[in-house]
Amino acid sequence: AIDARIETLLAQMTLAEKVGQLVLYSDPGDVTGPAPQDETQRRKVEFVKSGLIGSMLNVIGVEDVREIQKIAVEDSRLGIPMLFGYDVIHGHKTAFPIPLAEAASWDLALIEKSARIAAIEASAQGLNWTFAPMVDISRDPRWGRVMEGAGEDPFLGAEIAVVRVRGFQGEDLAAPDTIAATLKHFAAYGFAESGKDYNAADIGTVTLFNVVLPPFRKAIERANARVVMNSFNTLNGVPATGDRWLQRDILKGAWGFDGFIVSDWSSGLEMIAHGFAPDAREAARLAILAGSDVDMESDIYKRYLEGLAADGAAPMEMIDDAVRRVLRVKFELGLFDDPYRYLDAAREKKALSEPAHRELALKIAERSIVLLKNEGEILPLRAHDSIALIGALAADKDTPLGNWRAQAEFGSAVSVREAFEAAGVDFEYEEGAALEVGQANFADEVLVNTSDRSGFDAAVEAAGRADKVVIVLGEDAMQSGEGRSRAHLGFPGVQQDLLEAVCEANQNVILVVMSGRPLVLSWAAENVPAIVQAWHLGHEAGTAITNVLTGAYNPSGKLPMTFPRAGGQIPIYYNHLNTGRPGPREEVFWSHYIDESNAPLYPFGHGLSYTTFSYSRLSVRQRGENIEISVRVRNDGQVAGEETVQLYMRDRTASVSRPVRELKGFRKIELRPGESRRITFSLTKEELGFYNQRGEYVVEPGTFDFFVGGSSAATLTTSLNYRV
Ligand code: IFM
Repeated sequence: AIDARIETLLAQMTLAEKVGQLVLYSDPGDVTGPAPQDETQRRKVEFVKSGLIGSMLNVIGVEDVREIQKIAVEDSRLGIPMLFGYDVIHGHKTAFPIPLAEAASWDLALIEKSARIAAIEASAQGLNWTFAPMVDISRDPRWGRVMEGAGEDPFLGAEIAVVRVRGFQGEDLAAPDTIAATLKHFAAYGFAESGKDYNAADIGTVTLFNVVLPPFRKAIERANARVVMNSFNTLNGVPATGDRWLQRDILKGAWGFDGFIVSDWSSGLEMIAHGFAPDAREAARLAILAGSDVDMESDIYKRYLEGLAADGAAPMEMIDDAVRRVLRVKFELGLFDDPYRYLDAAREKKALSEPAHRELALKIAERSIVLLKNEGEILPLRAHDSIALIGALAADKDTPLGNWRAQAEFGSAVSVREAFEAAGVDFEYEEGAALEVGQANFADEVLVNTSDRSGFDAAVEAAGRADKVVIVLGEDAMQSGEGRSRAHLGFPGVQQDLLEAVCEANQNVILVVMSGRPLVLSWAAENVPAIVQAWHLGHEAGTAITNVLTGAYNPSGKLPMTFPRAGGQIPIYYNHLNTGRPGPREEVFWSHYIDESNAPLYPFGHGLSYTTFSYSRLSVRQRGENIEISVRVRNDGQVAGEETVQLYMRDRTASVSRPVRELKGFRKIELRPGESRRITFSLTKEELGFYNQRGEYVVEPGTFDFFVGGSSAATLTTSLNYRV
């Protein structure tokens, strides 16, 4: 039925109106890219009236959305309703942990709920489209946008992509509390060379098909993601926005994607700087030919597409195809049946103050925390411990909200200090020193290493008086995210000096790290007994951290990205290929650094608990075409705890060299003290395969090794000779 309605409408549209559907503009007041101050900015509303704009971004709230939707529906000739998009990345009004943190929970059901709540809140503000989830796999913590993704692993990344899309889009896209999801950035944006944002990505077919593309493909096939955003970068020399092979051949062709592709902010125009298009008109032509359906904010379609079509330089079938795709999503959202279905002021008010949303934010924040180290069981804190709470982030109510915090209000998170007070922890607070905030995206304002040590003495004295020190350090909210690449992955400012001074005054230091990415924590790993990775955890950060520190919640998070020992090891990731000289050897000619170990500081999948889990009786067998791997997991400690049981595989010999380990399955379980459970994984024949150099999926029989345990460094192993 939708097809017929699309065709009827298309037949009535002028060329200008068709092009209008392919234009996406931002509200001039709220920009998420370079802000053009030109004629277009002033005339946007007028364009809506003429049917020359199909969608807008950054227009938020029932009142504002209604004002524009009304013009589109009631004043434009055909009354085509508009899409209203926004970066709803980790919550909308309620801030959930940043996506990288949520990934550390490995809790798919909770991650789906977090996206669901974000959709409920965003849709209550009139939005019907989010530019999320970001499904870029990345192995480079220098890249500030790792905070927005699910980390380094394509399997975990794909599972999370699927549930995030399901959370946003719900069961029924036409329901008033669901929004269209966007998989971004297509493709390989996470492989920006040297971790520098917007930089070129140069990767081979095997990595592209096995690592970069699976989360996109699976989220389309399994969750029907309706939109894909292309990326700023060039991939192997071709800007993604102008890449016909990626967009037409792979995405729309081989995968049969029937939603639409949106460009990133001015990425069409940026093809000129890439040296791919000589001018804006040609950029428009190259983008539409390549299959980039909707242009975000670069104005090239609005200015040139009509002329290009009239000259025969842009085929009408391609324009029609792009328009159909946009209309399809609008129909599926139910906008043609009721363009005001998202606009209910009473619902807006209620949805934005729902206590249950904060409860879920706390639950997932607790599960996103990763206990990296806990020597001598210094944690959990004991009721009689006196604590010195130190560090520039200990009382910070804004940093936990992280970057891309949508409508969360500045400074509205629960700080650790507040949560300590609420929990009745016996503590004394000293900030120590200010954290210098750098706006790393402005050319003249980069991270400054402040020499302000004014608070040091008081902090060190407080540390000396206390039984234990909790020191909260890291990156502030705007030190990770888009445009926030970093070359030095230690603590900004004088925080490292403060940490060292405090450690001299007291041996019992617990380091809590807030960051949007893995930092290099090597000094701390050697000198501090406990390290808690607390990311940017959203509104309930302080409470979640306090619950973990006091043992009210037993930590269960596992790293979704490898933590390096040194910046020089980057990119460092667990699922790498073997070299011909893996070593270790006595002499120098093997693959290693002469000044650093090959091992990460903390491997992918690592995370401790206040209890310990043991793994035994690993078995594997072939059943028909499937493989069954089974293991017994036991809680050996004194308290109940959750463990993420991880299954890794190695294909020993294949026509393409395969990773030393790849994640193939995981299960999050809860065990009481002394309780044990048998966990069985089943892999299909299909799941043993990989993409070869030509991008073809192949399954090759042979010997497979399996490893099961609580991290990618699991030592329990068994093998199987797989036959077909
Ligand atoms: O969605 C984002 C994208 O990820 C980066 N550039 C701006 C877009 C819209 O805000």
